[in-house]
Amino acid sequence: MGERLDDQIADVDGLRRRVAELRATIDRGNYEYYILDNPTLSDAEWDAAMRELRAIEEAHPVLVTPDSPTQRVGATPLGAFATVTHPLPMLSLGNVFDEAGLREWAARVYKITGRDAVECVVEPKIDGLAVALTYEEGRLTVGATRGDGFTGEDVTQNLRTIRAIPLRLREPGDGLPPVPPRLEVRGEVFLPRSGFAAINEKQAEAGKPLYANPRNAAAGSLRQLDPGITAARPLRFFAYQVGSIERALTPRAHWDALRWLKALGFPLSPDSALCATLDEVWERCRWWQERRDALDFEIDGAVVKVNQTGLQEELGQVAREPRWAIAYKFPAVQGVTRLDHIEINVGRTGALNPLAFLDPVQIGGVTVGRATLHNEDQIRRLDLKLGDWVVVERRGDVIPQIVKVLAERRDGSEREYHFPTSCPTCGSTVERVAGEAMSYCTNASCPAQLKERLAHFAGRGAMDIEGLGAERVAQFVDAGLLGDVADLYLLHERRDALLALERMAEKNTDNLLRAIEASKGRPLARLIFGLGIRHVGERNAGLLAGRFASLEELCRASLEDLVAIPGFGAIVAQSVYDFCQEGRNQALIAKLAAVGVRPEGGRPPAPTDGPLAGKSFVLTGRLDSLTRGEATARLQALGATVAATVTKKTDYVVVGEDAGSKAERAAALKRPTLDEPALLALLAEAEGGGTPGAASPDEEPVPAS
Ligand code: IVH
Repeated sequence: MGERLDDQIADVDGLRRRVAELRATIDRGNYEYYILDNPTLSDAEWDAAMRELRAIEEAHPVLVTPDSPTQRVGATPLGAFATVTHPLPMLSLGNVFDEAGLREWAARVYKITGRDAVECVVEPKIDGLAVALTYEEGRLTVGATRGDGFTGEDVTQNLRTIRAIPLRLREPGDGLPPVPPRLEVRGEVFLPRSGFAAINEKQAEAGKPLYANPRNAAAGSLRQLDPGITAARPLRFFAYQVGSIERALTPRAHWDALRWLKALGFPLSPDSALCATLDEVWERCRWWQERRDALDFEIDGAVVKVNQTGLQEELGQVAREPRWAIAYKFPAVQGVTRLDHIEINVGRTGALNPLAFLDPVQIGGVTVGRATLHNEDQIRRLDLKLGDWVVVERRGDVIPQIVKVLAERRDGSEREYHFPTSCPTCGSTVERVAGEAMSYCTNASCPAQLKERLAHFAGRGAMDIEGLGAERVAQFVDAGLLGDVADLYLLHERRDALLALERMAEKNTDNLLRAIEASKGRPLARLIFGLGIRHVGERNAGLLAGRFASLEELCRASLEDLVAIPGFGAIVAQSVYDFCQEGRNQALIAKLAAVGVRPEGGRPPAPTDGPLAGKSFVLTGRLDSLTRGEATARLQALGATVAATVTKKTDYVVVGEDAGSKAERAAALKRPTLDEPALLALLAEAEGGGTPGAASPDEEPVPAS
């Protein structure tokens, strides 16, 4: 008995040591990734350590401590947030908008301090949410939002889910002051642009309203009563200020404070600079303004802070703004204009997309005449009336949005807008699926939908029919020549009718008919993508083509078959299943076969190993010799993953012609890029066989699991 107890104790001691080791590994991984920006631990190693730790803690709950990295997720949902009083008020910042404003601010600083130069730190002004984190004996005890500056909400459970926020402080070493008994740190919680795009994709997939910008998405994510939801959002954190701390321990300068915070384990906003002169400060502000669009997070200005703590105290504050700091706000990307009218565009899935037509206004050097309104709810949320004065915002590469109605400028001439209850094109009933934000036209042969569907089917990435653009499609539909996508392949029987149309000379017509004929043998993935199934983009179409040999086989799939496809979510699977169950679609698929559409066979599923296993790619811009869909399929077949957004973990960014912001982001994040010849060389080499583990063409495909 005694012996067994000893064994158990030895065992528990061993486990404790292992737990400590695993926690140290995980913490080191986070520290290197978020703070040093220099990971030496692979994702797989980090995941393995986390899995092992979770398994041990599950088997031995006594070993769980609140600062264990496993405790970042899974706290129980709250009924409401408690209120926290800030030990020191969280101030806001005064703004200046140009160099003159900055010089005026500095003049006041010089006057009060009696100096003619003052050292300043310039930091990016991150567009997120301010939070205050309190550490007692080096452990995170409370995390709060700014609230009204005096009291905020206790969002500790949610903040704990953010991996960039340390749960325990590190000993700084290096001659720096040790971990203090009590420390309040302030900083910004934000969503990287890449994370924002991913969240909105998910929102759209679930039919939920989209977030207007990363800031709103970050706020919405942090103020979730269920920490599980926050945990699933890729929130980040930068520390920018030491808050409340024992007076004797207050760092002598802000620059020292930043160095100390970094050594304690906090991620800092990048590229902060210590400037000796005001010219340098202004230069730095302009530097940030130029880099703005290339960053993976949104900034709306630069913050200038007097460096010496003694001078900060001397300067003090007015109202709720410190005199020792100022924000240089970038020129507005907002403009004010009048809403003229709203038009509805019916998409290929039948979705009714409201579009605002505005009196043209210059915003950041671009004339804006239209803005997206997303859906009916958005119009209601804004309380938008026709003729209203509105604030329009343009950010990066997204479509301008109406962010606010200036209700105070109403003069009574504004008119209520009624969202259509019937399709503006065909007059059919409009349906709104419960729980979804979009309304849909219920008529599958609605000409507006049909035109969009045909244009999509003929487009690049799908059947790629040269010479068949949106205008020509509209012309043919209006002439009664096309009732569905399969009718394209019957057009050769209507050559005379085509020739009778405007701008359809013999040569045009025959070229077009040839292009249509040539598209019959396009790969299955493109045909599936071309069908325009809701939620099935190029990527999901590739997955389906990897699993099924033909459209007919796809149509016979059960819901279980579809859910089982790796990388497929329940919503996508359901959508594909519903599409295939619809009699009309089954008839269309039979008709496509009857008119001679014979896609190249589906590819074997992407192997989980292969010469490019574990490598992640992002494709941007146009490639000459292959479409993005083809490039994706070939990369996936070699074991690579292909993602939509560039992150620090992206291995290669393939940059084609007219590449947009992704290429800029790749440069900003210093990710390696490949041009088309380099991509082709890489594919040729990886596909060339000889690499151990790569399947030869006649081997049985390895099902990915
Ligand atoms: S310092 C007294 N530094 O800007 C110092 N604020 O308008 C107050 N912000 O609520 C804050 N980046 O949310 C500071 N590097 C930075 C910042 C920053 C963003 C935000 C913060 C604050 C707001 C003030």
